[in-house]
Amino acid sequence: MDSLLLLNGSPRGPRSNSMRMLTQVAQGWQAGGGAEPTVLHLARSADFDRAVIEIGRAGKVLLGLPLYTDSMPGLVLGFIEALEPLIGREDNPRLGFLVQSGFMEPLHSRGLERYLMKLAMRLGSPHVGTIVRGGGEALQVMPDQALGKLFARLQDLGEQLAREGRFDPETLRQVAGRERLSPVSAAAMFVALKMPITQFYWTQQLKKNRAWQRRFDAPHASA
Ligand SMILES: Cc1cc2nc3c(=O)[nH]c(=O)nc-3n(C[C@H](O)[C@H](O)[C@H](O)COP(=O)(O)O)c2cc1C
Repeated sequence: MDSLLLLNGSPRGPRSNSMRMLTQVAQGWQAGGGAEPTVLHLARSADFDRAVIEIGRAGKVLLGLPLYTDSMPGLVLGFIEALEPLIGREDNPRLGFLVQSGFMEPLHSRGLERYLMKLAMRLGSPHVGTIVRGGGEALQVMPDQALGKLFARLQDLGEQLAREGRFDPETLRQVAGRERLSPVSAAAMFVALKMPITQFYWTQQLKKNRAWQRRFDAPHASA
């Protein structure tokens, strides 16, 4: 049976949106005949160290991560830098990625998608494709029943990876959805973001992370 190493690059670890999506891909992978994947959370230092070793032995690797400031969490950059010894090896694993962002439009993640494709090329790893999805933060509050269509497509992608060794571009397009919001949707989003219920979520997040008092800090602004 083919092996899959599943790497979660979210600083939130197991309770992250990245992991919730990766779990669906893993389900499809197993339905397609793949062996139970090894799952490692890069936010745990023991898992991080193990991931650097396991990636050199894996058949296929899927790295999932949230978009941070149009790029990636520092944690993931640190992991990528630790892969330098793999450059030039003969039998590097097939590499796939899952990038999900807070903003709805997948367009925000396309720069990172190109970077990850180049990374696979530089490592000499066949690139199986990158799953891109916007509106990821909604997964923190949405029940499984409301996510049926997305989950079914993520499972399809997992099954494709097991059966064909790559993601089907058409399914990737369906998961990503519209590249840009239409002017009407953008206007509706603008209004929705001003509503108390939306503000409540972000206020809670700021308070939970003890950042409420410092929400207007601008550490890089010139004095
Ligand atoms: C420090 C930080 C930076 C972020 N930067 C972006 C960004 O540039 N664009 C975006 O669409 N979402 C951004 N987000 C939102 C996350 O990508 C989004 O909430 C994601 O679903 C979190 O996934 P996780 O639970 O797997 O960590 C950012 C979040 C944080 C905490």
